[in-house]
Amino acid sequence: MSALEFRGVSKCFGSFFANRDLSFSVEPGTIHGLIGENGAGKSTAMKALFGIYPIDGGTILIQGKPVRNKSPVQAMRLGIGMVHQHFMLAGPETVLDNIILGHEPGFLRLDRERALEELKKISETYGLHFQKWHARVDELSVGEQQRVEILKLLYQRSAILILDEPTAVLTPQEVTELFENLKRLKAEGKTIILISHKLKEVLTHTDSVTVLRRGECVGTRVTAETNEDELAQMMVGRPVSFTYEGERKVFAKADESRAVLRVERLTIEGVSEPLRKVGFDLRPAEILGVAGVQGNGQTTLLRFLSNPSRYRSADGEYRFAGANRMGSNPLALRRAGMALVPEDRLSEGLLLEQDLVENYLLGQHEDPRFVRNGMIDRSKLRPRVEAAIRDFDIRPPYTNIWASRLSGGNQQKLVIARALDSNPNTLLIAHPTRGVDVGAIERIHEAIMKERNAGKSILLFSSELDELMDLSDRILVFYNGAVAAEFSRREFDPWAIGRVMGGGAK
Ligand SMILES: Nc1ncnc2c1ncn2[C@@H]1O[C@H](COP(=O)(O)OP(=O)(O)OP(=O)(O)O)[C@@H](O)[C@H]1O
Ligand SMILES: [Mg+2]
Repeated sequence: MSALEFRGVSKCFGSFFANRDLSFSVEPGTIHGLIGENGAGKSTAMKALFGIYPIDGGTILIQGKPVRNKSPVQAMRLGIGMVHQHFMLAGPETVLDNIILGHEPGFLRLDRERALEELKKISETYGLHFQKWHARVDELSVGEQQRVEILKLLYQRSAILILDEPTAVLTPQEVTELFENLKRLKAEGKTIILISHKLKEVLTHTDSVTVLRRGECVGTRVTAETNEDELAQMMVGRPVSFTYEGERKVFAKADESRAVLRVERLTIEGVSEPLRKVGFDLRPAEILGVAGVQGNGQTTLLRFLSNPSRYRSADGEYRFAGANRMGSNPLALRRAGMALVPEDRLSEGLLLEQDLVENYLLGQHEDPRFVRNGMIDRSKLRPRVEAAIRDFDIRPPYTNIWASRLSGGNQQKLVIARALDSNPNTLLIAHPTRGVDVGAIERIHEAIMKERNAGKSILLFSSELDELMDLSDRILVFYNGAVAAEFSRREFDPWAIGRVMGGGAK
């Protein structure tokens, strides 16, 4: 008997079908992949299973029995647990409280102590090595928060675990650990549903995989009998290339004296990711990749370069567009031709409860194309947003919806379209394809390369080494707050770069 079955399930938002007549089943004790383009309806289907949304048609069956989960509490009683795409832990509460919240009859001290003992045991058993039970959740790293989410499901003894893009924000080591744990859970007979945009991951770790497109089920495959090309084709409806295959214009060797952006001996202490004597230059018509395991200074560098005024104690030199920029604010940099795609689109890139036009205006409040005498002319802005929606295939294609209604990948496309729209000469881009589907990755990579070929300078931060090697002209590897090595394009080699990322020599 299947652990779980969707039988003709539909879910509408107004007149829009986010899921239409979905049918697939998941065998017990397996890892089942759920893939599809951004906005295909993956999260919606799983939220329906988890009791967050009521369904508008069809039947969901758990172990052959039809269920109607009206709330997550009900779903949890049936043994279903979910780790959301955007975590839902209560930030200011402690780890322990987050895990036992809504689960323990009271908050008696004895109960809490018993819960803690139990949790320690679970953590041991699964090799999760977690110890910060009394830390506030918002003080944990993203990887740690995710471990808490998983501990919570184990504590609740969930038999079906739903993981919505669990690896999008993890370091490579954390990803390896996660999959080891999933394997262990599977061996115990638990059923796991894995949503991911990383097809390699899906191919390596799942037993079968279901593909959604535009709310509908395209098909289910046994993982061992399919491949990257077939899955991508099923997702997007056309063949997809996984490496950039377009033009890479060759320019005369860049004259180092023409650097657009230059940093020398940059040292920033007293922050969680300090920098020590960092120096490099960014030249016209190049993509300079920044590699490194998360936490080695890249975040501080990006924040400093886009807003040096936040780092009054920074030491060293920072020149951009022919001027000293130590202490500059973002507005001055933007006026000098810089644009930014920030690390975290939700907290830094978007106003979630504003429509797409307002979001497009962010950071362009001064652009003479839209602003006359201090008045913003939204009628001039709207066609720009419409063009962005067309160019990047943002779905749903409406300018008047809240940014929170776009799926994660579509939010990312909006942030990138906006950064390119101001026609900057220099772009600082962080994780441009995090959580983005394979078809959209192709489009975003083409857009970045088009800027380079037009002579622009791009500093590209990414945790995907494949992406950096595919696009960059040079790669800087950060380790322990410093540039540990530089690789030119003909030296690119994942093992060599990986070794430096881990603290080894070039
Ligand atoms: N609460 C909501 N109200 C209205 N529309 C919604 C809501 N939630 C999702 N949608 C729409 O339903 C569709 C499916 O969204 P969903 O989040 O399920 O996509 P997804 O497959 O998880 O995409 P991604 O890979 O980007 O996370 C999208 O077009 C989205 O805009
Ligand atoms: Mg989703």
